Amino acid sequence: MNQVSCSLFSRIIGTGSYLPARVVTNKELETQINTNDEWIVERTGIRQRHIAADTEGTCDLAEHAARRAMEMANCSADELDLIIVGTTTPDLIYPSTACLLQARLGNHGAPAFDVQAVCSGFMYALVTADKFIKSGAAKRVLVVGADVYSRILDWNDRGTSILFGDGAGAVILEASDTAGIFSTKLHADGKYKDILCVPGTVAQNQIHGCGFTRMNGQEVFKFAVSALSELADDMLKTNQLTVNDIDWMIPHQANIRIIQAIARKIKLPMDKIIVTVDKHGNTSAASIPLALDIAVRDGRIQRGQTLLLEAIGGGFTWGAVLMKF
Ligand code: UT7
Repeated sequence: MNQVSCSLFSRIIGTGSYLPARVVTNKELETQINTNDEWIVERTGIRQRHIAADTEGTCDLAEHAARRAMEMANCSADELDLIIVGTTTPDLIYPSTACLLQARLGNHGAPAFDVQAVCSGFMYALVTADKFIKSGAAKRVLVVGADVYSRILDWNDRGTSILFGDGAGAVILEASDTAGIFSTKLHADGKYKDILCVPGTVAQNQIHGCGFTRMNGQEVFKFAVSALSELADDMLKTNQLTVNDIDWMIPHQANIRIIQAIARKIKLPMDKIIVTVDKHGNTSAASIPLALDIAVRDGRIQRGQTLLLEAIGGGFTWGAVLMKF
């Protein structure tokens, strides 16, 4: 990777996303586990989710999203000088999904690596890419959030299986003299490692521990609301902004009640928040770039608008980005 001249900002010049074809509605889940559409909609806002085919992996989803973002940005694979993928469900233990994706796209020689921060994976990847660009170490970066979260769900556990879906989202980030990303914050606190986890690993060719998601839903809910509302306030204060300066907030899409509680706490009207959780469920690292791409393509998000992105995930990890789109 060559050092390039230093730009003050990084800017999104293309977005893309991909959802697997198969839609699983709450009604379909009713036939498999002891749940019902009314409970799921009332407690989570989720109506359906997309689930990958057995033959589809994270890299497949990531490739579709990446190609769409590259097409919007009019950017070829050999113009990318860094590839970062946020994922918790890599196709392989190694090589990384970023390296697999690099080979699919036909890029040779740019650094490529995965970031593992669960549902904050895209935010960690985006902030990392922004730092590479601001330091002059990269000029055009492909940043992806992709997960086939359905593979680490116990479909007999109604407390978790109703919440998640599969998907991918991607952006092309470019060095720019005009904003751009202008403020970022990342956090983690491993003290909360047990309230959301997959407490297992692979060794000697076998799973040790548990390969499914384990979650204390109420603890996660409370933590998500307080961490993300405090972080939003902190981002605004740090940048001497008020909620009136935000055109759109794109929060992690986990539960509509979490999003509504944050909106109430920070006094941001719900009509300034991009919501996709009803159609996609929680797609983990894909949730924010997917929501971003949908709102860009349907015309709600316009160039020059101020966006606040906020993610939270297992670890616990959380973070935010303020940007001019
Ligand atoms: O990226 C972060 C990922 N995770 C999250 O964001 C999850 C955060 N937590 C949540 O979204 C909520 O806590 C849940 C949606 C998981 C659960 O909602 P809740 O309002 O906290 O419900 P609860 O766990 O207190 O359960 C209430 C009742 C219980 O029955 P009893 O004990 O009152 O008889 C549960 O057994 O609802 C029952 N229940 C269900 N009923 C029908 C739990 N899951 C289901 C279900 N269908 N799927």
